[in-house]
Amino acid sequence: MSCNKIYVTTPIYYVNDVAHIGHAYTTIIADTIARYSRLIGYDTFFLTGTDEHGQKIAESAATRGKTPKEYADEISGKFKSLWDDFNISYDKFIRTTDDYHITGVKQAFDKMLKNGDIYKGEYEGYYCVSCETFFTKTQLIDDEFCPDCGKATRLIKEESYFFKLSNYQDKLLKFYEDNPNFILPKSRRNEVLRFVEGGLRDLSITRTSFEWGVRLPEHLEDSNHVMYVWLDALLNYVTALGYGGSEENMEFTDKKIHIVGKDILRFHAIYWPAFLMSLDLKMPKHIAAHGWWTRNGEKMSKSKGNVVNPKEVADAYGLENFRYFMLREVPFGQDGDFSQRALIDRINSDLSNDLGNLLNRVIGMSGKYFEFKINSDEVEKFHSKELRELEEIIDSLEPYLYDMQTHRYLEELWKALSLANHSITTYEPWVKMKESKKDEAMALVALVANILARVSIMLNAIMPKTTQTITDALGFEINSDSFIKYIKEKNLLNEFNIKKVPPLFPKIEEARLESPEPKIEAKPKKEEKKQTSEPKDDLKIDGIIKIDEFFKVSLKIGRVIHAEEVPKSKKLLKLQVDLGEERPRQILAGIKEYYKADDLINTQVCVVANLKPAKLMGMLSEGMVLASNDDEGLSLIRPEKTKKVGTAIK
Ligand code: MSP
Repeated sequence: MSCNKIYVTTPIYYVNDVAHIGHAYTTIIADTIARYSRLIGYDTFFLTGTDEHGQKIAESAATRGKTPKEYADEISGKFKSLWDDFNISYDKFIRTTDDYHITGVKQAFDKMLKNGDIYKGEYEGYYCVSCETFFTKTQLIDDEFCPDCGKATRLIKEESYFFKLSNYQDKLLKFYEDNPNFILPKSRRNEVLRFVEGGLRDLSITRTSFEWGVRLPEHLEDSNHVMYVWLDALLNYVTALGYGGSEENMEFTDKKIHIVGKDILRFHAIYWPAFLMSLDLKMPKHIAAHGWWTRNGEKMSKSKGNVVNPKEVADAYGLENFRYFMLREVPFGQDGDFSQRALIDRINSDLSNDLGNLLNRVIGMSGKYFEFKINSDEVEKFHSKELRELEEIIDSLEPYLYDMQTHRYLEELWKALSLANHSITTYEPWVKMKESKKDEAMALVALVANILARVSIMLNAIMPKTTQTITDALGFEINSDSFIKYIKEKNLLNEFNIKKVPPLFPKIEEARLESPEPKIEAKPKKEEKKQTSEPKDDLKIDGIIKIDEFFKVSLKIGRVIHAEEVPKSKKLLKLQVDLGEERPRQILAGIKEYYKADDLINTQVCVVANLKPAKLMGMLSEGMVLASNDDEGLSLIRPEKTKKVGTAIK
């Protein structure tokens, strides 16, 4: 990164209802980016807050017999205290009802007006109050329903000021072309390009049929107009820095990263840059759009009654475990179905087995062999290969984070833990001790402690408190200095005293919350059950099956997008296989003796796609790859020509 100021934002949350895990997800990603940026020495400004105006909030308040402001105060307070409970490191919490924001919004309106970008006219069209979005009739579903949320829209006809969005079509297209990384993940870029290329209509930016909003600047003498909530809301990103007032933090416009959900990408990737162009302000560096948390495939939302309360999850499973899970479980940009089962698996396998056990082993070995005093004097001599491997892993990490590929960041980081666990198995320090090669055993324990130290620093932004506990045990603190010393300059820990700490990730045996239930496999219907438990003779004659039995097996073409060794397993490789579904499948395949993980990446395989998921070595396997084994060894079965992923094999 070339500049030293970074500005990270979450969307500002509507105060029509309290937070669910979707909101927590956005905030946790932003918090992670902010924490990491601070750690590596960037001057960081992290903004979050609440979006309090508009028809939706006015109506929510009215149904509760409250004024909009009373209701906004209550819900905004709840968001703020949730983020405080969650130890979110925001630098400012903005409310769109704050005076400085209102002043800034009016000033922006004035400037756009002076630039000739605003004119007065009449708006006729459909409005979705839930999304606070205008639509034309052709965009609606069945001439009535919102194409985004499916709720009924309202036909409105009223006097309105318009922003000349149509004037910005070419400028926006040029901007996207010059800044190919503006929209992250890149896969979402095309969707925005197509929308803009399809033609931009001027945007109605004021409403007259309700009152709960920012009034127009007084000199316009149009007191019955209030600003469209999205104009008001988007401007929070600059009023929070002092736009329209003291301007004290406007230099943070250098490198802005707005983290948003995919449902509000259009507002951020089209309207917002157009407004900024009109105001002659700097563009954001990235608009990063994540996917949705779903329950049984449906977007989580209060109105559907399928929300998961983030506080309950964090209280039951540990806040930092929850943070880790959210960032690791779902590739950024894709949707993810929330289940306690998946959360428990991550805690037990990644955190408890891989990370927690490693710390226990370092504590155990250093205590048993060296009275808790170890040094790195001979690590380079005995483990230069492992050290180079470690450095390569650690050096590769940062771009994943700023590209928002948090799952890849963690996946790569975990390779360092595999390296540590693998080194213990390979070098067997207990044997070295028996052979009186104390210096070699010491070098190994110190190698592992150094790996743990660097992993902790790189994991700090995601698990701030847990990692401090680990480095407490190793005898140093995580801060910008230790980042430079151990990550940038690659120094090893000096002589150090290991301290005992209680186990960090006790195994979780069963779901701790009643709702949502962990996913339960659908029980076979009675007739089916009968058939499987008592197969009729004519279905199974000497292993012969009927065609309908064969068709019960779903075979599909998949592409391996990631492969890695399963530590401590001689046979297993862990594959991520794209079957053209929402997310890749994790498949554990017993092919390690015949295939190198790296050689499998980007190759096609045949997958049994409807096998009941099973656990192998504590990890979930969601399918099986087809292979054939004879005297000459094992070979995977692959399509003769490349096929589209997800294609059925018949
Ligand atoms: N107020 C607007 C944002 C204005 S920003 C200038 C808004 N608020 S919201 O409360 O409805 O949503 C805030 C964020 O939460 C959005 O990024 C949205 O994508 C995210 N989520 C809401 N439900 C979600 C899930 N079920 N899963 C993940 N995130 C989702 O939009």
